[in-house]
Amino acid sequence: MFKNILITGGAGYIGSHIAEILIKDKKKVFLLDNLSTGHKKLINHKTKFFLSDIRKINKTREIVKKYKIDSIIHLAAALSVGESQKKPKKYESINVEGTKKILEAIKTSKVRNFVFSSTCAVYQDGLSKVSERSKLKPSSVYGKTKLKGEKIIKNFCKKNKINYGILRYFNVAGASQSGKIGQVNKGDQLFKNLSVELQKKKPIFKIYGGDYDTKDGTCIRDYIHVVDIANIHLKVLKKICNNKSIILNCGYSKGVSVNEVIESFKKNTKKKIKVKTIKKRKGDMAKIISDTSKLKRFIKWKPKFNNLDIIVKSCINWENKKN
Ligand SMILES: NC(=O)c1ccc[n+]([C@@H]2O[C@H](COP(=O)([O-])OP(=O)(O)OC[C@H]3O[C@@H](n4cnc5c(N)ncnc54)[C@H](O)[C@@H]3O)[C@@H](O)[C@H]2O)c1
Repeated sequence: MFKNILITGGAGYIGSHIAEILIKDKKKVFLLDNLSTGHKKLINHKTKFFLSDIRKINKTREIVKKYKIDSIIHLAAALSVGESQKKPKKYESINVEGTKKILEAIKTSKVRNFVFSSTCAVYQDGLSKVSERSKLKPSSVYGKTKLKGEKIIKNFCKKNKINYGILRYFNVAGASQSGKIGQVNKGDQLFKNLSVELQKKKPIFKIYGGDYDTKDGTCIRDYIHVVDIANIHLKVLKKICNNKSIILNCGYSKGVSVNEVIESFKKNTKKKIKVKTIKKRKGDMAKIISDTSKLKRFIKWKPKFNNLDIIVKSCINWENKKN
């Protein structure tokens, strides 16, 4: 089994939700984060936190040895698609070199399980519904560095007899019902941007492009509640620790358009919202949805929060509490 888990990027949005789930399951949780986009307020006080960078091999090696780490969940990364196009070296250094350094640090250690957060950005554009066997052809630097990370992990784990779970998340949204954690940084994320806008007196929701070849002309994504994503990590760890390794899509296999998200926000607030359609963003895919048959088979998974209004309400709650 597994007991002592180190989460890299554990002070971030998804990492803090995974920590909450693992603690509920009575695991010992250790977090390693350089707080570049992570936040002190997301650190669960029942975890042990190390302020460090994944590229510092000796520090990671020391933690892994001292605390008898048996499993790693590797989330630490730079993750803005737009930024990755402008700063490719940064993405290569953190997502590729950083991943290599983490692996180097666990060589000859007691780590037996390794879970990696990958992304749907590794798939070729224009496929709409993708299974794990769909064509891999990332269009962004971010996607390319994540795919490189996958390959490095697969090779290393096979060679060193470590079980791996590579999880390709689709679009993660929402916040924990505990009300203590949620998304802090504003980035490319639609739900976060709308929740922040909603705090203003006269909110204006912007739609990037209204003439995509989709049911209502706006982009379609497969959004998954962050608590469901966090739960998948625990279930995957429980399976792979029995000498299994796997690559899995993580989503709801359900396409939701930007318009539908906006309608749900409108429904869940009393504020009057103005909606403005502006120019398309470069690099945005029209539609991407996960085929999650493999995930469902592997962990006998049933999502708990597969409902747009629930995700939207949790985002609004978190934003209201934060302000
Ligand atoms: N949010 C999504 O929708 C989504 C979708 C697909 C994949 N992912 C992946 O999930 C993971 C977590 O993303 P998130 O949304 O929680 O983002 P986040 O920015 O909140 O979390 C990333 C964490 O990693 C830390 N970090 C970054 N560089 C580091 C370094 N060099 N050393 C140590 N710590 C470092 C940051 O401080 C932050 O706490 C990432 O690997 C990302 O690629 C996220």
